[in-house]
Amino acid sequence: MSNLFSSGIIGIGSYVPERVLTNHDLEKLVDTSDEWITTRTGIKERHIAADTEAASDLASLAARRALEDASMDPKDIELIIVATNSPDYMNFPATACVVQDNLGAVNAAAFDLEAGCSGFIYALTVADQFIKTGMYKNILVVASEIMSKITNWDDRETCVLFGDGAGAVVLGRVEEGLGIISSFLGSDGSGGKYLLLPAGGSRKPATIDTVKNKLHTIHMDGKEVFKFAVKVMGEASLKALDIAGLTPEDVDIFIPHQANIRIIDAAMRRLNLSREKVYVNIDRFGNTSSATIPIALDELYHNSSLKKGDCVLLTAFGTGLTYASMTLRWSK
Ligand code: UT7
Repeated sequence: MSNLFSSGIIGIGSYVPERVLTNHDLEKLVDTSDEWITTRTGIKERHIAADTEAASDLASLAARRALEDASMDPKDIELIIVATNSPDYMNFPATACVVQDNLGAVNAAAFDLEAGCSGFIYALTVADQFIKTGMYKNILVVASEIMSKITNWDDRETCVLFGDGAGAVVLGRVEEGLGIISSFLGSDGSGGKYLLLPAGGSRKPATIDTVKNKLHTIHMDGKEVFKFAVKVMGEASLKALDIAGLTPEDVDIFIPHQANIRIIDAAMRRLNLSREKVYVNIDRFGNTSSATIPIALDELYHNSSLKKGDCVLLTAFGTGLTYASMTLRWSK
């Protein structure tokens, strides 16, 4: 398919809740230690949403910042895609529709996309197709998560990992040669059992027992997910680079999904990238699932660390299991 238009990020914003939960705070909740969490994951602290906040609240705040950055009115947005694993409602309406209403984006279609922590790259890839073909001009892509509300706070293997936050971008037409160059999406559903929220859907509807047994929280086989992540992060990155006709040497900045510093290090070694080219903020935010990449991108942009034309590589993996990678030339 020939591309009629180039699409790229023309506005970006993020939001994390105020409350910070440190590893030392967690030491009081479960049998863990700052030393264990830091050496095994790279996380020092994470942000936790207020009881009253839902995924759409974080998403709307991040989206407003992205719209402001793009100098754009919500009425200019034609489509809103929200990537989330912790939607406002189980199972409907879509969080994207709540965001559409919050923003007053009266001209926008809206839907959610569930692809685990790979959701932001999946959603950007979907949005990219609409812009490239000319169907839409301006699309809001948001990744928003309140992992703290689907966490079992008695399970030390998972409760230390996740954090809450949201990142948003406005995707629009950009000059040729800039913006999204390639993306590669993949999945391996046979690994779905390694990271899931067992109850609340049509497989196991909510009952008193599912609540008692905490089946509405994250269940994970950390070792299996770790193995999968180490394998696919490098492979997906090389695929996306190859599709773009690029090699790891061309990459100016690599933004991997922030799940575990050891997974990030493994991907860095596989791609033979130097540490300065790899963006890491897991120490301050933990794993905010689909939101890690747009939060990192927003930080880089606001630190003035991104220059127009820079080659950016994004790579993620997540529940599904899914994986995804994208190359883009920074377009702002
Ligand atoms: O976005 C995708 C989300 N998921 C992931 O990215 C998860 C990927 N997996 C991981 O990041 C790692 O597997 C974990 C961080 C979850 C666990 O690290 P690990 O090096 O695989 O540890 P392990 O499961 O082999 O556990 C080692 C020990 C065990 O004790 P024993 O059996 O050796 O006595 C665990 O019980 O560490 C224990 N342990 C803990 N100790 C203190 C597990 N969690 C904790 C904890 N604090 N929070």
